[in-house]
Amino acid sequence: MLDIARSWVQQSQRIAVLTGAGVSAESGVPTFRDAQTGYWAQFRAEDMATEEGFRAHPERVWDWYQYRRDLLAGVHPNAAHQALAEFQQRHPGRLTLITQNVDGLHQRAGSTGVLCLHGGIFENRWLDAPRACCRIEHAAPGHPPYCDRCGNLVRPGVVWFGEALPSATFEAAEQAAHQCALMLVVGTAGAVYPAAGLARQARAAGARVVVLNPAPSELDDAAHAVLRGAAGTLLPHLLAG
Ligand code: OAD
Repeated sequence: MLDIARSWVQQSQRIAVLTGAGVSAESGVPTFRDAQTGYWAQFRAEDMATEEGFRAHPERVWDWYQYRRDLLAGVHPNAAHQALAEFQQRHPGRLTLITQNVDGLHQRAGSTGVLCLHGGIFENRWLDAPRACCRIEHAAPGHPPYCDRCGNLVRPGVVWFGEALPSATFEAAEQAAHQCALMLVVGTAGAVYPAAGLARQARAAGARVVVLNPAPSELDDAAHAVLRGAAGTLLPHLLAG
C-alpha cells in the first residue's frame, strides 16, 4: 500500500496535507485524544479550550497554555515535519500544508505558507474587544497578563471550541482541498470540524485521500488508502523523491 500511495504522490501535481497532533507526537508533544497520554485524558476540553472555561478560571487555563509553551521550547521538529518541509523545498508550489496544530513545529522545520486552522500558541490577543487603553505590549504581568486600566485579559491566540476559524485561512484550505489531486491526512483523529471536513471535501472534489495514522481515525472511511504507522516513519518514505 505504501508503494501505491508513493506512486500517487509522484503522479499528483497538487498535494494537500492535513496534519493533526499526531504529527508532533514523535517530538514529545502530547496529543489530545490518545488514551492515557492525550491531554483530554487529563483535562476536560470544555475547561481548557473554550472561552467559557477561560472566563471561569483564567489563571488555570493561562498556566496550562504557558506550560505547553514551555514544553514546546524544549522540543524539536521530527522526521515527519522535516519530510514535509523538504518536499516543499524540492517541489515549490506543489504541496499545501494545512495544520490543526498550534505548536509551530512545521514552520520551525522550514515549511512555508502553513495554513494554521487553529491559530498559534505563541500568539496572544485580548479576550474582550480592545479599547484604546489595551496594548498587548504594555499588558501588566500576571496569569494572565491584563490591562491595568480596564482589566481586559490577555488570552492565547488559539481557536477554542465554539469559535470561528480564521476565515481567510480556512478559505485557502478549502481551495487547496478542492484543487488537489491527492490529500494526505496525517496524525489526526478526524474528530473536530470543520477541519476534518476538508478531507471529505477533497474526496468529493475528486482527489485521492490517504490517511496516515497508527490507530483507527474517524476519517478512515473517507480514504482510498489507510497507512498504519507513525508519521515520522511513513512520511519520509512517501515523500522521498
Ligand atoms: P487528536 O489527539 O484528536 O488525534 C491525534 C491522532 O494522532 C490520533 O488519531 C492518533 O492515533 C494519531 N497519532 C498518534 N501518534 C502518531 C504518530 N506518531 N504518527 C501519526 N499519528 C499519530 O489530535 P487532532 O486530531 O489534531 O483543538 O485534534 C484536533 C483538535 O482537537 C486539536 O487541534 C485541538 C483538539 O482538541 C483545540 O484545542 C481547539
